[in-house]
Amino acid sequence: DEAELNADFEAVIAAQERIEPRDWMPEGYRRTLIRQIAQHAHSEIIGMQPEGNWISRAPSLRRKAILLAKVQDEAGHGLYLYSAAETLGADRADLTRRLITGAQKYSSIFNYPTLSYADVGTIGWLVDGAAICNQVPLCRSSYGPYSRAMIRICKEESFHQRQGYELLMTMMRGTDAQRAMVQDSVNRFWWPSLMMFGPPDSDSPNTARSMAWGIKRHTNDELRQRFVDMTVPQAEALGVTLPDPDLAWNPERGSYDFGEPDWAELRAVIGGDGPCNAQRLAHRRRAHEDGAWVREAAAAYAARTAAEEAP
Ligand code: ACO
Repeated sequence: DEAELNADFEAVIAAQERIEPRDWMPEGYRRTLIRQIAQHAHSEIIGMQPEGNWISRAPSLRRKAILLAKVQDEAGHGLYLYSAAETLGADRADLTRRLITGAQKYSSIFNYPTLSYADVGTIGWLVDGAAICNQVPLCRSSYGPYSRAMIRICKEESFHQRQGYELLMTMMRGTDAQRAMVQDSVNRFWWPSLMMFGPPDSDSPNTARSMAWGIKRHTNDELRQRFVDMTVPQAEALGVTLPDPDLAWNPERGSYDFGEPDWAELRAVIGGDGPCNAQRLAHRRRAHEDGAWVREAAAAYAARTAAEEAP
C-alpha cells in the first residue's frame, strides 16, 4: 500500500541512494522534479540566444569556433534535460508549449542583453561559474537520470567557464578600451549572476521540501556565498572591480560579506518584466513555428516507414 511504498522511498532517500524512473515516488516529488528539470532545460535553450547573438560578429575564426561549440553544447544540455524530464512522464511537446506560453520559467539571467563581445567572456566566467556552483551538487541529486545528466553537463560547463575567463584575460592584456569593455560587462552581469541562485532562503518556498527529498543539496544562500568566495580572487587575478562597495573579507566567518541583491528586480525579471523577456520568448516562439514543417515531415516519414515495415 501507499504507506509502505512511501517508507521504501524515504529509505532510499535516507541512504543517499538514487530513485530511478520505474520506482514508486510521491506525486509531489515527481512534480517538483519536472518543474526544476524543465526550468533548467528551458534555461539552456533560451540561454543560446544572448550568446548566439554574437556568433556572426566574433572577432576571429578561433573565437567563432569556440562560441559555436559552446552554444551547441547548450542545445545538447537542453535536449539531455528534456529527456530526463520525459523519464518522469513529462511530454516534450507539452514542455515546449509551456515555455513559449510563459507557463513555465527559465533562468532570469538570460533576460539581460549582451551589448559587447566582452559579455561572451563574462557570461562564461560569471554565469557559467554560477551555474557550476549550483549544478555540481546536483550531481548528487536523488533522482538518477537528473544526477547523471548533471555529471556530463558540469564537465562541459567547466570548459565554458574557462573559455570565458581566458577571453577576459586576453582582453585585459589588450587596450584601455578593451579593459573598459570588460569592466562595463562585469558591472552589468555581477548582480544578475548573484540572482541566478534564486530568492533568499527566507523567501524560497521550495527549498526546504526539495532538500528533504535530496533534489537540492544546498540552499540558495549557501550556494550564492560559495560563488562569491570563489569569484572574488578570480576578479583580483583578472584586474576587474566587482561593483559592490560592501564586498569585504570577514575573517570570523572565513567568507566574504557582500551587499544585498535587488530582490525587486529579480521578482520583476522572473515575473516576465526583465529587459529582454519579451524578445527571448518571441524568438523561441518564432523558431518553434518555423520548425513546424520539420516536425510534420519527420512524423509523416516515421508513419510511412512504420507502415512499410508492418508485416
Ligand atoms: N530565475 C527564474 N526563476 C527563478 C530563479 C531564477 N534565477 N530563482 C528561482 N526562481 C523561481 C523558482 O523556479 C520558483 O518558481 P516556481 O515555484 O513557480 O517554479 C520560485 O522562483 C521560488 O524559488 P525557489 O523556491 O528558491 O525555487 P527552487 O527551489 O526551484 O530553486 C533554483 C531555484 C536554485 C534555480 C533551482 O530550481 C535549481 O537549482 N535549478 C537547477 C539549475 C537551473 O535551473 N539552472 C538554470 C540556469 S543555469 C544555466 O543554464 C547556464
